[in-house]
Amino acid sequence: MKLFVKKSLEQLMATPEEGHGTLKRTLGAGSLIALGIGAIIGAGLFVRTAAAAGAHAGSAVTISFIIAAVGCAFAGLCYAEFASIIPIAGSAYTYAYATMGEIVAWIIGWALVLEYALGAATVSISWSEYANKLLGGRIPFEWCHSPLEKILIGGVTHHGIINLPALLILFLLSALLIKGTQESATVNAVIVFVKVAIVLVFIVIGWHYINPLNHTPYLIPANAPAAVLPDGTTYSYKPFFNHGWGGVLTGSAIVFFAFIGFDAVSTAAQEAKNPKRDMPIGILGSLVVCTILYILFSWVLTGVAPYQDFMHAGKEASVAYAITTYMHGFGWLSTLVTIAILAGFSSVILVMLLGQSRVFYTMSTDGLLPKVFSDLHPKFSTPYKSNMILFVFVGLFAAFLPESIAGDLTSIGTLFAFVLVCIGVMLLRRTNPTMERPFKTPLVPLVPILGILICLAMIISLPLSTQLSALAWLIIGLVIYFSYGVKNSRLGSATDALPRASDFEKK
Ligand code: ALA
Repeated sequence: MKLFVKKSLEQLMATPEEGHGTLKRTLGAGSLIALGIGAIIGAGLFVRTAAAAGAHAGSAVTISFIIAAVGCAFAGLCYAEFASIIPIAGSAYTYAYATMGEIVAWIIGWALVLEYALGAATVSISWSEYANKLLGGRIPFEWCHSPLEKILIGGVTHHGIINLPALLILFLLSALLIKGTQESATVNAVIVFVKVAIVLVFIVIGWHYINPLNHTPYLIPANAPAAVLPDGTTYSYKPFFNHGWGGVLTGSAIVFFAFIGFDAVSTAAQEAKNPKRDMPIGILGSLVVCTILYILFSWVLTGVAPYQDFMHAGKEASVAYAITTYMHGFGWLSTLVTIAILAGFSSVILVMLLGQSRVFYTMSTDGLLPKVFSDLHPKFSTPYKSNMILFVFVGLFAAFLPESIAGDLTSIGTLFAFVLVCIGVMLLRRTNPTMERPFKTPLVPLVPILGILICLAMIISLPLSTQLSALAWLIIGLVIYFSYGVKNSRLGSATDALPRASDFEKK
């Protein structure tokens, strides 16, 4: 058993195994930034901003965005170094395989399932919220909510049963993915344009409707009156992480979700035309654009509506709510925003599902997952069986979990993967100092260490139930690895004659 066996660079760069076929190289730098923004702007901005403001950070959710962005920027710089050295599909999983060994790679790959699969589930649940808003709330509560949610209407409590709209959008997008990446990237580019346009329109028009009183006090005070939730129960702001700076930190872990996805760019490296140049541009470029938009957007949103609203009437489809309630005469904008958001969420789900199937593809070619995850479609060259299995898997979460639980799990899984990527960069600098690095993370080890600290702080501020669920997920992953991966790993069963990364150092 070779738990810490590492992939050499030559093995990494070699084309995928014969019989699996290869993915097509069709994406340029522009497409990659679009892919990044496509994955980035979504439920994090249009749903979780209000959730973080309402329950934890108040107007200071802008500061939460800054904290999350700084953590992402540090981790993003580490991602970019890896993506430029190892420009093949698989993201953080692949990087870990080259630097920290198989078992760590498996753990990261497993954490990435939380990021991509649960991320896709979270956004599809948010899609369902806005779809229902567009339909004037006609979908009965029972059929668009999880069994863990309830609401009090006219003195009667309604419980959710299953989230059908979320399942529908997942089904449609899985079918689109099976048809092919190039087609998906084109649809994505159009949606990204619409999404950015609508964010800008909301910022510009909403700016005139900011009520300065809503921004005062900027942080939620410890003695803020308890909020009444839609199911009739109350929510206290007293606990440390529900007000003040503690609340701002939890807020950052919640809105961190809004940044998830820039690393999804790296999962498409095998489909990039010039990965060495384009990957860092794609990753960092999309991160910078989004950070600026988020800070402005959250400033306007919490200025237009008081944060308390987001605990009750404005809890779902919060942006549409803020416009219809406080920006009189802009009903058309609310409808337009809702349509754009639905399109925007679709592009996020698409990239998440794409990322997940690519990570599974790579893990499967490595023998850590069954071959079914890397079987390519004879005509479309896409991992279609994997896409179908993922639809079922992601669909289960989307149908039966509330947005907040799925979203927090996504955040924690991603934060954990980020921490490991930061560690990986430091390790690789030590083990392979002279390796050619087309993009170098600046100020190592300072940047990775700050990345680790900020991500860990966000992990700590998430609810205990989220931390325990993530731990349970990790344990399930390890059980699968030791009962399947260890025995089927292609690398683990190979001989010691395999070349190592050090064989490719510049002499
Ligand atoms: N960043 C993506 C979103 O906010 C996952 O929806």
